[in-house]
Formats: sequence, structure tokens, C-alpha cells
Amino acid sequence: MPLLSGRDPRCILQAAKHLAAGGLLGFPTETVYGLGARADVDTAAAGIFAAKGRPVDHPLIVHVTGVEAAHDFAASWPASAEVLAQRFWPGPLTLVVPRRPAVAGVAAAGLPTVALRCPDHPVALALLREAAGLGVRGLAGPSANRFGRVSPTRASHVVDEFGDSLMVLDGGPCREGIESAIVDVSREEPVLLRPGTLTRAHIEAALRRDLAVGLRDRDAQAPRVPGSLAAHYAPRARVHLVPADRMDDALQALGHQHDGRSVGVYSRQPPRNRSPIVHRAMSGDPSEVAHDLFAVLRGLDDEGVQAIWVEMPPEGTAWDGVRDRLQRAATR
Ligand code: TXA
Ligand code: MG
Repeated sequence: MPLLSGRDPRCILQAAKHLAAGGLLGFPTETVYGLGARADVDTAAAGIFAAKGRPVDHPLIVHVTGVEAAHDFAASWPASAEVLAQRFWPGPLTLVVPRRPAVAGVAAAGLPTVALRCPDHPVALALLREAAGLGVRGLAGPSANRFGRVSPTRASHVVDEFGDSLMVLDGGPCREGIESAIVDVSREEPVLLRPGTLTRAHIEAALRRDLAVGLRDRDAQAPRVPGSLAAHYAPRARVHLVPADRMDDALQALGHQHDGRSVGVYSRQPPRNRSPIVHRAMSGDPSEVAHDLFAVLRGLDDEGVQAIWVEMPPEGTAWDGVRDRLQRAATR
């Protein structure tokens, strides 16, 4: 199936009709491409799990046109949800709130909560509005990659993942490049479940309070969800994360172990020993690295490198999202 142009209103309508009829669609957002199906029809949402090979107990994010549509899915709307949605929607922030028991049961994996997000992408918003006009209340949409793999940031990546039988709406390269930050506001204390390009400091400033962070170590009650699995976002090649000042030694130590295939290196300083190395230059700006990261990992995979050596990002919360994705990519 050819890519549909996100710039063509007829293509948006075609995609919306396909969704309304219960179909699956690759669609752009400002973070990464999503694999969408209507969230308000359980059989449609179930198609996502089957296509991704995703365990059915891993909940999906539901994309909505805004706060009003969020109320169709939310059983209640905590004050902190209102503050964060007013401040950051449309945008790369997902809010976990109590779920209306009768809707999105499959999308939410049966949890008493639902994750909601209004994406800041003109094509995604046009699609959501067109679909809403056809009775679709929200679009369940995990990243459009097979379970555990690198998220797609271009329409061509989605085709690489699912082949050309999937309908894909092309909205160009994603502006942010890593998935949304997720904040659970369903309980007393807001918890940052997944860092994104929106930093913890931005979210805390809006809430005027500190965020508890993470669920793996500190929050035993929180659901076990794939964004929280230690190993995720992995390219085919093995990823090694190394401190900048140890990169040259690490590559030196590799010696001639490589079996004729080269090694990928993603670092700010080009390695001293250039062969047999495919080097990708890393920016010093965290938003640029977020923007490039998944395309770089996919590109190095396409080059057939045997392993990817990545420079550890600097300290500081601006790098949290990138550091999180890299640590998971490097875990097997
Ligand atoms: O930027 C994004 O968030 C992208 C685009 C397409 O919007 N979507 C995305 O979806 O990253 P996915 O499925 O790859 O990650 C969704 C994550 C899950 O891994 C899980 O951590 C969390 O959302 N999640 C969903 N529902 C939840 C819930 N009820 N409680 C806690 N976490 C939830
Ligand atoms: Mg994902």
C-alpha cells in the first residue's frame, strides 16, 4: 500500500474512515510514529497487540483531540491532570488517570487507569478530529514498532517494521524523536513513569511540586508496563554504552575481534582509530540527540554493523529521556 500524504485532506479522510471501520494505521506524532486503532472498540484495539506481538497486559496510550475528549475515557480528572494538560497539551506528555470502566478496556489492558495524550502534530490532530467526526472517541497508539524494538521516527521506518500491507499516513520526520514523558496523576502523589523531551523540571514547575520518579525501584504498586522494562528500544546490533573518556580504549580493546563487519560508534568525539568504524556524530544538544537517536540506531543496523558503541550522555535532567532510552537499548 502506498504511503498516504498527511498534507492531503483526502488522505486524512481516507485514513479516518479506515480507523472508524476498525482498521490499523501507522500515523505521525511529534514524538514517534504510532500504530493506531480506535480505542473505544475493543476488537479494533486488540489488533494492535496482535500486529506488534505485544503482550496483552501492556497498556497502550490513547490519543485524543484535547481535554474534552479525554473526559470520555477518564473516570475523574485530577487537579494535577488539568494543570498539566492546560500547560502542555497538545504536546509530548501522557497523563495516566482513573479510567471509565466501560471504555478502552483492551487498550488499557484491563487496568483501572488509562494513559491519555493529545499529540502536537498537525497531521495527528487533523486525523483525530476527522475520526472524531466519524464517531471515533480516541486512538489507541503505541509506537509503531514490533515489541521491544526501536521506535520509528519516519514513515519509512514504519514500513520497515510492518511491510507495505499496513496503511501509513506520512507526516514527515518526527520533531521530538523519543516517546512522550508519562506522568501518573491517578494517585495522591504524581509519579514520572517515563522521561521524555519534556524535562522533569518543566513538569515540576507547572505542578509547583516535586515529582516522584520511576516505578521500578521506588513504586512497587505501579503497574508493570513495557516502557518500564529494563530492556527495550533495542536495535539488532548489540548496544554498548561507554563514558566519553573510555571510548577510545574500549574500541582499542576490541582489536580485530570483528568478523569482517564494522562497528558503529555514536559519539561526540570521532574515535581515534577510524577503521573498521562507522561513526555517527552526536550533538551536544539533548533535543538534537533525542531527534536523531532512533534514526541513528536504525541506520547503523541497516549498515550491518556488528555492535554499536554509544557515548554515555552527560549528567543533568535535560538528558534524562535520551539516557533512559540508551540504557534500555543497551540492556539485554
Ligand atoms: O510518544 C508516545 O508516547 C508514543 C506516541 C505514538 O504517542 N507512544 C508510545 O506508546 O510510546 P508505547 O505503547 O510504546 O508506550 C506506552 C507506554 C507503555 O509502555 C506504558 O509504560 C505506559 O505507556 N502506559 C500506558 N497505559 C498505562 C497505564 N494505565 N498506567 C501506566 N502506564 C501506562
Ligand atoms: Mg514503544
